[in-house]
Amino acid sequence: MKILIATEKPFVPLAIRQIREVTEAAGFNLVLLESYTDKSELLEAVSDVDAVIVRSDKITSEVLDSAKKLKVVVRAGSGYDNIDIASCTAHNVVAMNTPGQNSNAVAELAFELLLYQIRGGFTGKSGTELRGKTIGLHAFGNVGKYVADIARGFGMDIYAYDPFVSERVMKNNGAKQCINIQELYLKCQYISIHMPSNAITSKSIGYDLLRKMPQNAVLVNTARKEVIDEEGLLKIFAERSDISYLSDIEPDCKNTFEEKYQGRFIFTSKKMGAQTEESNINAAVAAARQIIDYFKNGKEKFRINRL
Ligand code: 3PG
Repeated sequence: MKILIATEKPFVPLAIRQIREVTEAAGFNLVLLESYTDKSELLEAVSDVDAVIVRSDKITSEVLDSAKKLKVVVRAGSGYDNIDIASCTAHNVVAMNTPGQNSNAVAELAFELLLYQIRGGFTGKSGTELRGKTIGLHAFGNVGKYVADIARGFGMDIYAYDPFVSERVMKNNGAKQCINIQELYLKCQYISIHMPSNAITSKSIGYDLLRKMPQNAVLVNTARKEVIDEEGLLKIFAERSDISYLSDIEPDCKNTFEEKYQGRFIFTSKKMGAQTEESNINAAVAAARQIIDYFKNGKEKFRINRL
């Protein structure tokens, strides 16, 4: 059995070492394709493997067509908008993710971005503090819960909106439930976004929501750039000079921000949310274990498609 790790953005060496230990102990053969720059390299690397572990690498129909022996693909991470799920199903390939394994890293990044911004980028000018301020969690899954945990430490007033999570779960995690999304944006100076990118959430945060935010609002997006309606974002930026946008990955309209809104944004050039040693190890080893468990025991933990 051959497992490929195909990562355009590689895991730390320690994570690879640990995967190797786990896979070799189980009798699997591990091969690596790291830091590749051309799709053709991925198409070739998948051609003879039984399983593949990826990060944000795109698993398209073309990749699946090339992967003649492929039975399992695991997205070492949470969001699987990079995997063509329907095509996996059509190719009889089981697709899985590893939810929760990199959530703390993403939650910490949300605060790292926020703190840097509200302290004026450490330039010497006076900033503001988090204690006593409102933070709104747009979706309350694994990352949202870690953000709530950290926000409690900062003494923040925490609100959350998530149609799939009960008020009790929010309360147990120190967050007050908002009954609709408008309420969240009306109440909270800081909003942290933690929902997946899909057909429903795509471009779902735009002018109508952002205009409700209080003075000196900061929108923190460590989820996906696709959930933002960038036209609406630019419209509110043009109208209000008190709003900031912090995003883990550059929006498509980055040039306009650079031309017009210096000091009111932070954009990472590579997705940094899961870029910690701990989360690399957690997600990578979990992915390897899920593959082994699938082949050895027929287990389909965290499967995201049904054949
Ligand atoms: C995720 O969905 O798990 C995160 O966005 C991490 O993505 P990455 O593995 O490409 O850094």
